[in-house]
Formats: sequence, C-alpha cells, structure tokens
Amino acid sequence: MRHLSFFLAFLLLPAVASAMVDGAAVYAATCSACHGQGIAGAPKFSDAAAWKPRIAQGMETLVKHAQEGFQGKSGFMPAKGGNASLSNAEVAAAVKYMTEAAEK
Ligand code: HEC
Repeated sequence: MRHLSFFLAFLLLPAVASAMVDGAAVYAATCSACHGQGIAGAPKFSDAAAWKPRIAQGMETLVKHAQEGFQGKSGFMPAKGGNASLSNAEVAAAVKYMTEAAEK
C-alpha cells in the first residue's frame, strides 16, 4: 500500500504543477523588465506610494489594463507586458503578486 501511494504521488505531481500559475515567476520573466526599477514610467515593484492609487482602481481594472494594454499618464503598459505567449491567468497572477508586494 505504501508503494502504491508513492507511485500515485509521482503520477499526480506534474499535473498539479502545470495547473498552478506562478505569479512570481511570470513577474520575474516578463514584468520585472520595466516594473523592477520603474523604467519608462512603470510603477516600481513594492513601491507602496506608486501602487496605492492604482490599487484603488480595483483589481478588475488593473488586471484588464495588464492583459489588454493601457496608455496612462506616466507611460505605456503593453498588453501582457509585450509577451503574447502569456495566458490571461498568468498575467492576472502576476498582477496579484505585484499588488500584494506593494501592500506589504
Ligand atoms: C515595457 C515596459 C513594461 C512591461 C514589460 C510591463 N509593464 Fe506594466 N506598466 C508599464 C508602464 C509604463 C505602466 C504605467 C502606465 C501609466 O499609468 O501611465 C504600467 C502599469 C501597469 C499596471 C497598472 C495599470 C493601472 O491601471 O494603473 C499594472 C497592473 C501592470 N503594469 C502590470 C504588468 C504586468 C503584470 C506585467 C508583466 C506581464 C507588466 N506590467 C509588464 C510598463 C511595463
């Protein structure tokens, strides 16, 4: 019985991992290029003052702007950070990761 559950865990692990979306990894690979240092008018990562008025717009608006692109007062946010291969869920996870870091 012990062997069987070991075997099952091996079978299930990759399936679980691919279903999970890692906002931190998406951020690091795509979004940090601009948001890491606040390049081109992008609100800087974990800068609470820069993110506060944006967070106040509501999560729905932020996610929409990140997925579809957004021309704001300080610069241009390209759709999906310019990485069209990202899914909407990956972009949403990255937005969640970034806003949580700014609220700490
Ligand atoms: C090429 C640079 C660049 C990249 C890459 C980039 N952003 Fe942005 N982003 C910007 C700029 C510039 C703004 C500010 C636009 C403004 O308010 O004028 C912005 C704003 C935002 C906002 C705030 C939108 C709002 O309504 O205030 C969110 C959320 C966001 N980005 C998420 C992301 C996510 C998620 C990624 C990665 C998938 C990403 N960005 C990658 C440049 C970038």
